[in-house]
Formats: sequence, structure tokens, C-alpha cells
Amino acid sequence: MSDQRNEFDHDKEPFGFRTLVVSFPVFFFVVLVALILVIDRSAFSSLNAAIPSFDSESHQKHTNELKQLEERASWWHIPDLEALPEGKEKEYILYGQQLIIHTSRFLGPNGSVRKLSNGMNCQNCHLDAGTKIWGNNYGGVRATYPKLRARSGKIEDIPKRINDCIQRSLNGKALERNSREMRAIVAYIDFLGSKVPKDTIPRGTGIHKLSYLQRPADPMRGKLVYETHCASCHGTNGEGMPAANGFEYVNPPLWGDLSYNTGAGMYRLSRLAGYVKYNMPYGVRYPDFRLSDAECWDVAAFINSQPRPVMDISGDWPDISKKPVDHPFGPFIDGFSEQQHKYGPFGPIEQAARLVQKK
Ligand code: HEC
Ligand code: HEC
Repeated sequence: MSDQRNEFDHDKEPFGFRTLVVSFPVFFFVVLVALILVIDRSAFSSLNAAIPSFDSESHQKHTNELKQLEERASWWHIPDLEALPEGKEKEYILYGQQLIIHTSRFLGPNGSVRKLSNGMNCQNCHLDAGTKIWGNNYGGVRATYPKLRARSGKIEDIPKRINDCIQRSLNGKALERNSREMRAIVAYIDFLGSKVPKDTIPRGTGIHKLSYLQRPADPMRGKLVYETHCASCHGTNGEGMPAANGFEYVNPPLWGDLSYNTGAGMYRLSRLAGYVKYNMPYGVRYPDFRLSDAECWDVAAFINSQPRPVMDISGDWPDISKKPVDHPFGPFIDGFSEQQHKYGPFGPIEQAARLVQKK
């Protein structure tokens, strides 16, 4: 009982020296913040007041430049397909979209139009019909093609780039440039990039670039990641799961005869690891992710150490100094082994390349 009273007394302690000492700095701080706010506001309003006296034309120009800068750095806004006026052009674009989503129904082993690819769909790697943030989307294609590509040493336009994926990622034969299908795919990709300023790439476009590991990526650790996070869908042998309709896959294959070949972009470790980060296990969406960067590198090392179709790429990279650090086939201009170019660590290779460039 007496204890309780004591506590009560303590709470009700009148304004004493201790309280004064404690509250003074708080009081001082509050006044300071208020002062800063007042000064800041008046500076802001005087700036506002000054704007009308600007030369309005140069002000407009300045605002436009800022806007452009902002746009360049901004995320990609996918244009609205539904908003397109009905007509031939829209039909074409929609057909192109179907070709991306269900490629194999049209062009696969049982394709209704031609039989020239391996049964995969473009969408297997270019997710949400090529519109997903960090899902290898097509947002920057129209704005950056035609362009000189170091892999071929030639200026490539969009149809050439599409055929690259058909011949490598879909391990198939080129689609005629003038075919209805090629023109429809190009129309769709063009449409997706129609709001993107020339020579810019919106944020979130393509594949996210992971930071390099200090060690080589490890296929053995990657096997464990695979068994834990991937095998349930892609199969213990990476064979995927065919859909009941026999045309495409519920879950596409990751290696073996029916997967992408050794000339494909995914056969570069950085592309595969970066793709996995914000997309796999299926359903993962930026900014969320399931796997650490190290797990992504390791699982990519495991997948790309498994057998797959071999492509003759002797014509690639005519200037070997332009090979990316993770291009897994020699000859190389530097002294690093094929093994290190395949699994890393890539940091030292990149550093050496920078030194050469400086000379
Ligand atoms: C096995 C996976 C895979 C499949 C399937 C695939 N691609 Fe690709 N595609 C890639 C990779 C990887 C890249 C390179 C991305 C990078 O380097 O950032 C790429 C790049 C591209 C690019 C260039 C993108 C750019 O911004 O430069 C186009 C266009 C393209 N693919 C179209 C297609 C089309 C059309 C299909 C279907 C006929 C297809 N791809 C199927 C993996 C695939
Ligand atoms: C829940 C099922 C599921 C799980 C788990 C899963 N995936 Fe996938 N994966 C898919 C589907 C479905 C696609 C194709 C997406 C599409 O077509 O829209 C795909 C596509 C891919 C592709 C590109 C296409 C190809 O076949 O080359 C890669 C690479 C890939 N997954 C790797 C992985 C890795 C690595 C893991 C484990 C970390 C994983 N996936 C876990 C369902 C899954």
C-alpha cells in the first residue's frame, strides 16, 4: 500500500529542477524546427512569386527539358491495347500478341502456320506478353533498333533480332521477314515501345543486372536451390511439363533437347541469373524476390551446366574484344579461362577489360 502511494507521489512530482533540465533542450529543439519551417516557406513562396517575372518562353523550355529528363528516368508505362481504334492495325497488333503468348501453337513442332521452333513460347522468357517489369520486356526495343550489335558485328533491325531468338532461344529456323507472322510480331513490339523516346530505355526494361559474386557461381550449391525452389514445376531433369493440348508447356523446359541452345542469351549466366531474380519461382514480381543474388547465380550455374542443343556460333563476335565478360566460349582477348568466363568471378575480367580500354 505504501509502495503504491510512493509511486503516485512520484508521478505527481511538481515542476522541479530535474524536469526543467530535461525539458529545456526539447523546448529549444521545437523552436528551432518551427523557425526552419518558417524560413523555408518564405523562401519557397518568394520563389513562386518570382516565376511570373521569368521570360515565359525560356521557362517553358526549362520545364520541358526537366520533363524529358524525368521521362527518361521513369518506369515504362505500357500503352493501352484496348484504347486502339478498331481496324486492321489493331488486328495485326493483337495477332502479334498472340504469337508472343502462344508461339508454339503457330510455329512450334505442331504449329498451324509453320513448324520451325522447339515448342517454347516467346512469353516463357518475355513474361506477360513482353510487358513485365524486369521480366525481359520489350519496352526499349522500338527506341533502340536498328542498332549495331557486337554479337553479329552488323546493324540489326527488329526482325533480325526476333529471328535471333527464334534460332537460339527457340532453337529453330528463321521466320521469313515478309511473312504475316513476322510483321505482326514487329507491329506488336513497335506498339509496346510507341511512347518511348528514341534512344532511351525505360527503367525496368529487359533483364535486371545483378551485382557480381566475389567467387565463381557454384553448380553444386545451385543444384540444391533448384531442388528446393524449381524442380516442382520444371521437373527433376529440367524437362518441364507439357500442356494437355500438346502444343505448349505449362512449365517450360530448362535444359535438354527441347530447351534453348548454347547460342541463346539465357546461356549467359548474367542473363539467366538476372531473369530468375525478379521472376522465379513463378509469380515473383519486382520489387519482391524469393532468392538471394548468390542463389540466383548458383542456380543459373547449375542450369547452364546441364546438356542442351549446341549451336554453331563460330560467326558470333567477329571482334572478340567486344565479347561480354560472361560469354562462355573462347577465344578471348584477355588471359582468363573459359571456365571463369562461364561461372565467374566476373569482376576481375571486367576490371582488366577497363584497363585495356583506357590504354
Ligand atoms: C529461352 C528464353 C527466350 C525465349 C523463348 C525468347 N527470348 Fe527473346 N530474348 C531472350 C534473352 C535472354 C534476351 C536478351 C535480353 C538481354 O540481353 O537483356 C532476348 C532478347 C530479345 C529481343 C531484344 C530485346 C532488346 O531490348 O534488345 C527481342 C526483340 C526478342 N528477344 C524477341 C523474342 C521473340 C519474338 C521471341 C519468340 C519468337 C523470343 N524473343 C523468345 C530470351 C528469350
Ligand atoms: C510454380 C511453378 C514454377 C516454379 C516453382 C519455377 N518456375 Fe520457372 N517458369 C514457370 C513458368 C510457368 C514459366 C513460363 C512463364 C510463362 O510462359 O508465362 C517459367 C519460366 C522459366 C524460365 C524461362 C523459360 C525457360 O524454360 O527457359 C526460366 C529460366 C525459369 N523459369 C527458371 C526457374 C528457376 C531457376 C526456378 C527456381 C528458382 C523456377 N523457374 C521456378 C514456372 C515455375
